[in-house]
Amino acid sequence: MSVVLKNITKSYGSVKAIENIDLEIHPGEVIGLLGDNGAGKSTLMKVLAGAVRPNEGTIEVDGVDYVFEGSSDARAAGIEMLYQDLALFDDLPVVMNVFIGREITNRFGFLRYGEMRRRAMDIVNGFSVRKFDVRNPVGNLSGGQRQVSAITRTMAFGSRYIILDEPTSALSPSARDEVLAIVRDLASRGIGVVMVSHDLGHVRQVCDRVAILHLGTMAGVRDMATTSQDEIISLIVDGHAPNAAA
Ligand SMILES: Nc1ncnc2c1ncn2[C@@H]1O[C@H](COP(=O)(O)OP(=O)(O)OP(=O)(O)O)[C@@H](O)[C@H]1O
Ligand SMILES: [Mg+2]
Repeated sequence: MSVVLKNITKSYGSVKAIENIDLEIHPGEVIGLLGDNGAGKSTLMKVLAGAVRPNEGTIEVDGVDYVFEGSSDARAAGIEMLYQDLALFDDLPVVMNVFIGREITNRFGFLRYGEMRRRAMDIVNGFSVRKFDVRNPVGNLSGGQRQVSAITRTMAFGSRYIILDEPTSALSPSARDEVLAIVRDLASRGIGVVMVSHDLGHVRQVCDRVAILHLGTMAGVRDMATTSQDEIISLIVDGHAPNAAA
């Protein structure tokens, strides 16, 4: 069981956004995806989430080879991506945001609002965050609660791999801690998580491994327990580990 990305290349015109990228994601682990602005993090994750078609490369999910034509294909394979803007509808209650496009209806086609509300509440209450009412419009929620709502949407449909693009940027310190706790929660439930981040502190706090992109290529993958801050920074900035001679 794992996601295996092999030899993924994506060009935009003459710009090679990512080139020959290999990466494995295991259930129950958190991988931090690091790299400078423009290194290719979002592009790689969009390929994994089916939003961008690679020019080359293969995606294997739990032993099956896939060609994703769109994000619904990736979703069907158990992969869900939360974009930085979260794509929530501010005017709608949390529960409708969770089930939008996949509403639970009875045999006459009417919405089963109570059932959806119960399911959404169960997921929210399972996280170690301050409780909130899923009947609230998303627009009334705090930044951390918005992030929880978006994560709840992925949990409601049994995703096995979740990609979070910069989930902690623009949050207050306490909301950040809540979101980081949820990231660990997800992993402890057996979900494989990729967290794109520019914050080395957050990555160190929750990630089991780090993958570092440099100018569109994979500079290295390291176990958090055995790498150092210096090594990670060198991989981000120079694309290689610090030289012994340096
Ligand atoms: N739709 C697009 N059209 C043209 N070029 C693109 C497109 N998307 C990304 N690129 C280019 O591909 C490269 C990688 O971009 P990408 O957004 O993946 O980087 P990133 O690592 O996510 O950066 P950031 O940290 O700033 O979010 C950049 O040179 C970018 O300009
Ligand atoms: Mg990006």
